[in-house]
Amino acid sequence: MVKQAGGALLLSIHIEHGSPRPVSTQLHVALRDLILSGGFAPGQRLPASRTLARELAVSRTTVIEAFDRLTAEGLIESRVGAGTYVARALEAPRPMMPTSTAQGPAARPPRLSRATERSLELFGQRRRLPAIARAFTTALPAFDAFPMAQWGRLSAKHWRRARNEIMGYGEPFGHPPLRRAIAAHLRANRGISCDAEQIFIVSGAQQAFSLTATLLLNPGDRVWFENPGAIGARNSLIAAGAELVPVPVDAQGLCVEDGLAHSPDFLLAFVTPSHQQPLGVVMSLERRFALLHAAAQAGAWIIEDDYDGEFTFGGTPLPTLKSIDTTGRVIYVGTFSKSLFPSLRLGYLLVPPSLVDTVKALMSQLLQGVPTVVQAVVAEFIDEGHFSAHLRRMRRIYAERHDTLCAAAGQRLAGLLEVVPSHSGLHTTARFLAGQSEAAVMEAARLRELTVSPIARFWLTPPPGGGHSGLVLGFGAIRPPDIERGVEVLGQVLEALGPPPVGARPTSRQWP
Ligand SMILES: Cc1ncc(COP(=O)(O)O)c(C=O)c1O
Repeated sequence: MVKQAGGALLLSIHIEHGSPRPVSTQLHVALRDLILSGGFAPGQRLPASRTLARELAVSRTTVIEAFDRLTAEGLIESRVGAGTYVARALEAPRPMMPTSTAQGPAARPPRLSRATERSLELFGQRRRLPAIARAFTTALPAFDAFPMAQWGRLSAKHWRRARNEIMGYGEPFGHPPLRRAIAAHLRANRGISCDAEQIFIVSGAQQAFSLTATLLLNPGDRVWFENPGAIGARNSLIAAGAELVPVPVDAQGLCVEDGLAHSPDFLLAFVTPSHQQPLGVVMSLERRFALLHAAAQAGAWIIEDDYDGEFTFGGTPLPTLKSIDTTGRVIYVGTFSKSLFPSLRLGYLLVPPSLVDTVKALMSQLLQGVPTVVQAVVAEFIDEGHFSAHLRRMRRIYAERHDTLCAAAGQRLAGLLEVVPSHSGLHTTARFLAGQSEAAVMEAARLRELTVSPIARFWLTPPPGGGHSGLVLGFGAIRPPDIERGVEVLGQVLEALGPPPVGARPTSRQWP
């Protein structure tokens, strides 16, 4: 039996035999924690290695290995013929980790910057973005239709390139072939006349929003923001200290007149004109011109987030805002999260010529770019025509999934929920027909393994009367049979819940 004062502490050491962590590492870490937490006082003698080995049912060699590592770290010292002791150096005053159970003054929360304190208070609620799709997950593309074999071949090819070409720091503004490929793609497919020099590769649209906010905003600057609107972009702007001005969205998109009435002195406007997030409205040409005019008058910038604008499946798509921008005020943000897949973490900024040098200066000081091989693979994927072919195929697939959702909902959810048809994108909205509560439906659906997002999550401030009440439903990542099954389960959920009591029903405003 271990006799020393620390015997009880030593016996608290639990060695997991059969764990992939070597036993000597487990023992070293456990002893180290005991010493650093003050469980063993400086100068206190440790049990002999033979005794410890017996008590813990480990070999003596294992104990000696752990002791050797602690000696090398200066935490214990051996005196020949006298045993092993906790180092006296630990007598020097040193801070202890506060614990919730510690005696004395209660552990204080860490001191944060005022900017972070403010952001944490104002951030919109963003749940963890999904990794795996189920009915009706939003934000994910159709993994099942991705050309994996082709992608694998291209990746293998680029990993075989000369090490000097792929292993060093890359260009902070982006791999030149990818910047050229994106510029060519935007010219051919999004009607945007631009030069590769204006394209900056970043780690997803989210980073583009943060970078733009750092570039342009001072704390307190007023930013028009679609209400309801995109949560990630909202949070980036809040973190930059922006004063967000909620601007309503109607059937034509952002209500520019409303923005002007409340805040003519805006410095930036954030919009999703191709497919409003979350309502799915396409901004009319008239509104696009009105917004460009308002920005030019105010000397303001516009962020156009074209996150899923490649996927139109009904009618002729309207030109991007950037393509009709004659004022040089539009900063266009693109992402490969929907057109390829989100774990790539690849997006880009297309900035007006007047901002090119400043963005270069900022990026070369703050960022070191995105992995070169990933960019090289995407560049070749675009240059070889695989990207365009993939987009064409995905448009058909998304159209089919969208139609499946609308048809199934039309049959099964009549009188309960009306799915609003969309002309593009990977998700749409659905309005409650019986005044149900978004939160109750979301929770009941979750218990049946369905994901539905309440529209409430996207409000900056809900309008008086509560605004439209309903759900955001993703269809892009879900196969048609799973969409049909999901609609059936959603019907059961809504029927089981029934309508809420009359007094608790939200007043329904006009939907766009
Ligand atoms: C409105 C909007 N913009 C952009 C993105 C893509 O962001 P990222 O490129 O950082 O993945 C999303 C993702 O869901 C989104 O909802």
